[in-house]
Order: sequence, then C-alpha cells, then structure tokens
Amino acid sequence: MTRVAVFPGSFDPMTNAHLDVARRASGLFDRLVVGVLNNPKKAPLFAIEERVTLIERCVADLGEHVSVDAFDGLTVDFARHHGAGFIVRGLRAVSDFEAELQMALTNRKLAPEIDTTFLMTALEFGYVSSSLTKEVARFGGDIGPMVPGPVAEALVRRMADEARV
Ligand code: PNS
Repeated sequence: MTRVAVFPGSFDPMTNAHLDVARRASGLFDRLVVGVLNNPKKAPLFAIEERVTLIERCVADLGEHVSVDAFDGLTVDFARHHGAGFIVRGLRAVSDFEAELQMALTNRKLAPEIDTTFLMTALEFGYVSSSLTKEVARFGGDIGPMVPGPVAEALVRRMADEARV
C-alpha cells in the first residue's frame, strides 16, 4: 500500500520549523505533497508562485517523493486530489494544539477517510513562526536561525525592495 500525505500551510514563508516537519514526514510516507494555500483573503508577503518555488528549493534534498503544489479551497479536497490518506501538521508547543485539534476534527467530519497526523517540531525551532520571522527581517534582525537559506535571501531582498519604495 502506498502511503500518501499532504502537508498544507500558508508557508509565507517556509520556516525551519516547517522544513523540519517536512523532513520528518518525508521519512514516514511514500509520497509527500507540500500544499501551499492560495488564500485570496490574505495579503501574503510572497506571491503563491514565489512560495512554491522557495519551498521547492528548500525540500530539494528530501527526495523525489516530495513535491510542492499550490491549492485553493478545502485541504481535504486537495488531499483527495492527490490520493492522500493523511494530512500532516506540525506542533511546536501546547499553544498550537487547540486550533490544530479543531482543524483536524473539522477535516475528519468532512473526510472521514483522511487522518491528520501531528509531528513535533524539533525543540530548537519551537519558537519559530513565519510572522515573527517577517517582523525580525523587516527590522534588520538576524533571521539565519529561523528560515532555510533560500528563504533568508528572499526575505532580505524583499525587505530591501520594500524599504526603497
Ligand atoms: O500555515 P497555516 O496558516 O497554519 O495553515 C492553515 C491551513 C492552510 C492548513 C488551513 O487554514 C486550511 O486547511 N485551509 C484550507 C481551508 C480548509 O480546508 N478549511 C477547513 C478545515 S480547517
């Protein structure tokens, strides 16, 4: 039996915490699709195509069984589209749990055949979030420990562009 999982998120941008979860999941599933939500209601820093390209660069060494795809609409529909029986989400701390439980139960109600699996982020990345990383980058702080190299470069470039406008 082939075990397929999707790892959905906003990934604006991908952090070391996300990458750590993707790496762990890549060892557990035969195929892993990182799903990048295209949410027209949010105004992301990085366009959907940029986020997909950045993640592709970040996960390049995880193996050919890991791919990246954009989606809109429901995560369970995205999972079904890819023939996935699992949704992967990362937990950094207890504070993540309540919202994740609600999402997992909602997804189970919508698609009982799909299970959500939670992976604990490495302790060293427990504090890392996309939003705080953007804030640190905006004010010139060191984001090196928080995001993969390609993301750090893109963030520094984007903040410099924004400062020029
Ligand atoms: O990185 P995020 O923002 O924590 O990811 C949240 C995400 C994309 C997993 C969640 O918002 C989601 O699944 N959105 C798609 C819409 C959906 O399926 N909603 C119902 C179940 S939560």
